[in-house]
Amino acid sequence: MRDTVSFTLNGEMVSVQNPDPTLTLLNWLRQTRSLTGTKEGCAEGDCGACTVVIGSPDAPEDLPPWRAVNACIAFLPTLDGKTVITVEGLAQNGKLHPVQQALIEHHGSQCGFCTPGFVMSLYAHYRNEGVVDDETLNDVLAGNLCRCTGYAPIIRAARAMYDYPKVEDILLASATDSEMLCLTMTDTLSGTEKQYFAPHNMSELAIIYAKHPDAVILAGSTDVGLWVTKQKKVLKVLIDIGRVEGFANIEKTENGLMIGAGASYAAAHETLEEMYPSLGELIRRIGSTQIRNAGTMGGNIANGSPIGDMPPPLIALGAELILRRGDNTRRIALESFFLEYGKQDIASGEFVETIFVPNPVPAGRFAVYKVSKRFDQDISALCGAFSLQLDGHKVAAIRIAFGGMAGIPARAKNAEAALLGQDWNETNLRKAMMALGDDFTPLSDMRASAEYRLQCAQNLLLKFWLSDDAPYLAKEVRHG
Ligand SMILES: Cc1cc2nc3c(=O)[nH]c(=O)nc-3n(C[C@H](O)[C@H](O)[C@H](O)COP(=O)(O)OP(=O)(O)OC[C@H]3O[C@@H](n4cnc5c(N)ncnc54)[C@H](O)[C@@H]3O)c2cc1C
Ligand code: FES
Ligand code: FES
Repeated sequence: MRDTVSFTLNGEMVSVQNPDPTLTLLNWLRQTRSLTGTKEGCAEGDCGACTVVIGSPDAPEDLPPWRAVNACIAFLPTLDGKTVITVEGLAQNGKLHPVQQALIEHHGSQCGFCTPGFVMSLYAHYRNEGVVDDETLNDVLAGNLCRCTGYAPIIRAARAMYDYPKVEDILLASATDSEMLCLTMTDTLSGTEKQYFAPHNMSELAIIYAKHPDAVILAGSTDVGLWVTKQKKVLKVLIDIGRVEGFANIEKTENGLMIGAGASYAAAHETLEEMYPSLGELIRRIGSTQIRNAGTMGGNIANGSPIGDMPPPLIALGAELILRRGDNTRRIALESFFLEYGKQDIASGEFVETIFVPNPVPAGRFAVYKVSKRFDQDISALCGAFSLQLDGHKVAAIRIAFGGMAGIPARAKNAEAALLGQDWNETNLRKAMMALGDDFTPLSDMRASAEYRLQCAQNLLLKFWLSDDAPYLAKEVRHG
């Protein structure tokens, strides 16, 4: 048992005794360390003003070592053993960092509010030696908002940042740097009224969760963080899964991919994109770089949101979940996990361990489309996913799933029935579009009206049929 959280901050070892487990890194930096360069804009992961850079000695090898994250929704204990860099840590020996120098010389800074966040997002990219083409930079900066739309000079600065003389950079602290980095212990911060567990392997996690079934599992904190900062919830018991060995593993098997529920979007992106390019494009549009660096695949499913982006494509692909409670595991189809709004098929003390995503089928076709008010950094109004297998011109298998059309992500069974065994032609397609009206009675809310949602869902099906990605849809079949 241990009551201290230790990490390096701008190259200096710091230890915090008995922090409130839900104290955010942002509040600690500003209020305790007076490091006010890191700003609070929204306190919900949206604006990027609080961006800091984290390095982990135990990060997966195939991931860039430096991650830009939102300090406003990162809880302090999750940083144990990590390397934290804030905007104050960049200039060394009186010399500005190339990213800072480039922003100055390209007039990329108009206010002091958003600039530190932009600097830190670019700094993570610089440290990871990322490329500076327009598409990549748009992705890198999509999670940093500038209210005065000063993006053009910021992008010009980003393109030029490698042209400036290098400065000495803060190194990644290794677990052996200090005995204080207790990466191999099961930790319990018990000096506070709240409890925080950081199990180090799956059986420890299973035991602790079975013992504390009312605990909140903390994964990337991109939902849970907001419960604290926005809803002001008091979370008494937290189980941080960030250090559970193997929980973020992604393994290719003969039949498909086994994705540890603790794998971040960033970690799963490339492998899923190789299998299903359209799914890769969807992941690229989830939140921002900061959110994708923190948020996990398991968290997106376990939270049961009807507008989470992962369930529709994974349901359409026939994905399965492996759930665990104590030593017992069970395997269920992902679609049957969602029972009704706010209710999932998960028992007390049970957690999502692994997500299985089947391999593409021969001559199969898959696409997923996200519809949101903003292209980047926005939650879906609806999300439609389509998986098709043809036998000649006939539909041999079809799975259609939507998010945002009901209280849970769900399959469109009537639309599927209208197509299964039929010719893949426009007449049948139009019947399936009409059948979507029997599948769903969507709601109107701030993201879209019910009418818009239904019409849009129908048009997404049409888009899938018309899609030029269809490798074996000859023109006469498409329009026959
Ligand atoms: C700015 C912003 C933008 C966002 N954009 C998008 C978007 O575009 N698309 C989208 O779908 N979502 C989006 N989200 C929502 C969020 O990123 C996702 O839902 C995310 O995947 C949650 O994962 P997490 O690891 O952060 O989960 P956490 O916040 O840590 O946990 C979420 C919930 O899942 C539970 N949980 C986590 N892991 C497990 C597990 N293995 N077993 C059982 N329970 C578990 C937790 O107890 C909690 O109830 C956004 C969020 C923010 C703040
Ligand atoms: S303060 Fe806006 S993302 Fe953190
Ligand atoms: S320069 Fe800060 S909001 Fe635009």
